[in-house]
Amino acid sequence: KQQIIALLKENIRNIPDFPQPGIQFKDITPLLQNPDTLELTSRVLARPFRKKNIDYVVGLESRGFLFGTNLAQDLHAGFIPIRKPGKLPAETLSATYALEYGNDTVEIHKDAFSEGARVLVHDDLIATGGSAAAATELVEELGGKVVGYSFIIALETLRGTDLLAPGVPVKVLLSL
Ligand code: PRP
Ligand code: MG
Repeated sequence: KQQIIALLKENIRNIPDFPQPGIQFKDITPLLQNPDTLELTSRVLARPFRKKNIDYVVGLESRGFLFGTNLAQDLHAGFIPIRKPGKLPAETLSATYALEYGNDTVEIHKDAFSEGARVLVHDDLIATGGSAAAATELVEELGGKVVGYSFIIALETLRGTDLLAPGVPVKVLLSL
């Protein structure tokens, strides 16, 4: 556990003032670049959810796609993308929320899953929790059940997890 945390710390870069002054950007590209950390991170993300009968992993565009499909494959679940507006071709449902920097809208395909589906929401990072909360809203509106949240990084001081569905397990690999 300590080893994984050390490995993550070594392979996540802090880029100050990106994309705006005052933002400390957590860059996971080194984690993806190294084949060992790529494989290990994917496996460690899946571990807490192996016996949870996950039907679908919902991944948030764009950085939630990077490990989200690996996670889905590992759990033998389907992968559902939540995308920025105008990107999904079929009929969509949208939700608007306040982001760490700015406002955003996200969309999901209306036929993403059937009622009662057990869904794991994944993103690379949770900051204010706005995007994960919007994802929760979309999943629930479609009749899905959010049974877990998975993040590589949580910016603890922002208390983003307060916005998530109450009582649902949240797994974070690295709290900063
Ligand atoms: C970042 C990050 C999360 C979100 C977290 O994405 O990847 O998706 O912000 O912020 P929140 O908890 O305050 O909602 P970003 O919008 O920068 O887009 P990207 O993933 O496409 O790079
Ligand atoms: Mg993102």
